[in-house]
Amino acid sequence: MLRLTILTCFLLIVASSAAVNPNWYKNAVVYQIYPRSFKDSNGDGIGDLNGITSKLEHVADIGADAFWLSPIYKSPQVDFGYDISNFTDIEPTYGTLADFDRLVAKAKSLGLKVIMDFVPNHSSHEHPWFKKSIQRIKPYDEFYVWRNAKIINGTRHPPNNWLSNFQGSAWQWNDVRKQYYLHQFAAGQPDLNYRNPTLRQEMTKVLTFWMNRGVSGFRIDAINHMYEDIHFRDEPSANRTDIPKTDYDSLVHIYTKDQNETYEVLKSWRKLMDDHSARTKTDPKMILTEAYASHDLTVKYYNSGSTVPFNFMFITDLHNSSNAMDFKRLIDRWMKAVPNGKVANWVVGNHDNHRVASRFGRSRADEISMIAMTLPGIAVIYNGDEIGMEDRNFTYAETVDPAGCNSGPARYQLRSRDPERTPYQWDNTTSAGFSTNRKTWLPVHSNYKTLNLKRQKGEYYNHYQIFKILRSMKRRPVIERGTSKVEVYGNRILCITRSLGNDTVIVMTNPSNRPAAVNISSRELPPVLIVYAANVDSTLRPGTLVVTNSLFVPEYSSILFTSLNIYWSDHNV
Ligand code: NOJ
Repeated sequence: MLRLTILTCFLLIVASSAAVNPNWYKNAVVYQIYPRSFKDSNGDGIGDLNGITSKLEHVADIGADAFWLSPIYKSPQVDFGYDISNFTDIEPTYGTLADFDRLVAKAKSLGLKVIMDFVPNHSSHEHPWFKKSIQRIKPYDEFYVWRNAKIINGTRHPPNNWLSNFQGSAWQWNDVRKQYYLHQFAAGQPDLNYRNPTLRQEMTKVLTFWMNRGVSGFRIDAINHMYEDIHFRDEPSANRTDIPKTDYDSLVHIYTKDQNETYEVLKSWRKLMDDHSARTKTDPKMILTEAYASHDLTVKYYNSGSTVPFNFMFITDLHNSSNAMDFKRLIDRWMKAVPNGKVANWVVGNHDNHRVASRFGRSRADEISMIAMTLPGIAVIYNGDEIGMEDRNFTYAETVDPAGCNSGPARYQLRSRDPERTPYQWDNTTSAGFSTNRKTWLPVHSNYKTLNLKRQKGEYYNHYQIFKILRSMKRRPVIERGTSKVEVYGNRILCITRSLGNDTVIVMTNPSNRPAAVNISSRELPPVLIVYAANVDSTLRPGTLVVTNSLFVPEYSSILFTSLNIYWSDHNV
C-alpha cells in the first residue's frame, strides 16, 4: 500500500512537472490588446472584456502565444486606464471579475497566456489610498510623494522644476494637505512612493492577486519612473530652443528616471513570480518592462529579471528615412547585448506611438513585422498591425488623449496618441464591426470599408495572409534556433540570413525607390532560393525562383526567401 502511495505521488509530481514548459516564451509572439478599442460587446461604443473574449479565436488564429491587456482595472479613465482607482478590481465599463475569469478560462482553452498591464508608478487621484494620504491617515500618508511649497517673495511655488510627461509642472498643490504632490503624468495620476515599505508590500499583494487568478505575467508600465532623487534636485535644461519650457523634453531627466533602486524592486518582483510559479507548478511568468531609456539602461533590466525589456528601436531609433546600415547597426547592437540564457525582443508598435504602417509608410507596413518575426526571440505586435491598420488624423476638438489635449491646438499632433488607438477594423459593417453603436469612443478610421480583417481573410494575398505566413515560419527550428547574420548589400539592401542544416530563411528589404540586383551567393547558401512571401505592394510573388548570384529586389520591397526544401515541404510539392 505504502509503495503504491509513493508511486502515485511520484507519478503526480512527474506529470505536473512535465506539464511545465520553462522555455515557452523564448520564441513567442506577444499580441497587445488595447481593450477600449478591441471589441465592444454591449453597444456602448467602448470595448470590453466580453468583447475581447468573443474575439480570442482571432488572437489564436494569428498565432499569438500570449496577449497583453492594456489596463482593465477600475479607473476614472483620465489616462484611459493608466490611472487606477482599484488595483484588484475591473473597470465596470469593461466588465466584472467574473468576466475576467471567463476570459482567462477561454484563453487557456485556446492555449493563450494572459499578461496584465501592471502600473506601479502611480494610482488614480480617486484611489482610496490617495484620499487617505491627503488626510494624512497612516500608513497612507507616506504612500505618495508629497513636498512643501517653495515660498519666494511670499508666493507659493512647486518644490522644484520637474515636469510632467503631459506638459507643465509635475507638481500639483493640494489645499487640504497643504502640500504639493508629484505626478509625472496627468494630475489625476499621483506618483506612488516606493521608498515606503508598506506601499511596496501592498503592490506585491496586487501581483499575487492576479497571479492567483491565472495570469502568466505582467507588462510593467513606466518602470523607470518609479524612483526619484532623494534630494529632489532641479533637473538640468536640455537647451532646446524649439519647444516650450513646459514641454517634458525641455529637461534632462536625471533625477526622475532610471534610478538604481528600480532595478532592485524588479528583482524582488521576479522572485515573487518565480516563487509563485514554483509553488503552483506553472510556466515561468513573463515580465515585460516598459522603459524609454538609453540602450544600456534598457538592457540592464534583463539582469533584474525582465524577460522582455522592451526594445523600442523600430519606434524610437528607426524611421522611414533610416537606411539599411542604420537597421544593421541597431539589430547587431541589441543581439550583442542580450545576456546568456536570455532572448532578444522586437517591438513593432504599441498604443503610445504611431502605427507601423504610418511610421514607415503603407508600402512598408509588412516590413518591420517581417524583420521582427525572422530575428531570434520575441516579437511584440500591437493589435491591428497584423492587418496593416493606419493612423487616423484627429482635429484638436476630437482629441481626448491628455498628452494631446494638454499640448494645445498648435502642438497636439506632436503628442496625441489618439491616431493609433482607433477601434479595431473587423469588417465593413457599422463601426467596422467593433460596435453596434455608430458613435464609438474614438471614431473609426474611414478606410475600414476596404481595410478590415474579414476582407483580408477572404483574399489571397494581403497583410493578414503575410502575417500568418510569418507566424508559421517563426515556428520552424531555423528561426527558433538557427544562426543569424545581418548584412548590407550595395549600401541599401538589408539582408537577414537564418540557417540551420539544410534550411535557409532570408529576409531582404529594399527601402529605396530604386530596384537592386545583388549577389549574395556563398558556399553556405543554396544557389537557388524561392520567394516565400513579399510585402503586399511588391511586384515579386510567392513561388518565384531566384538565383543568389543575381538576386533582384524591387524598390520598396521586403521579401522572405527560403531554401526550396522549406517551401516544398510547406506546399506539399
Ligand atoms: C505608459 C503607457 O503606455 C501610457 O499609455 C501611459 O500614458 C503612461 N505610461 C502612464 O501610465
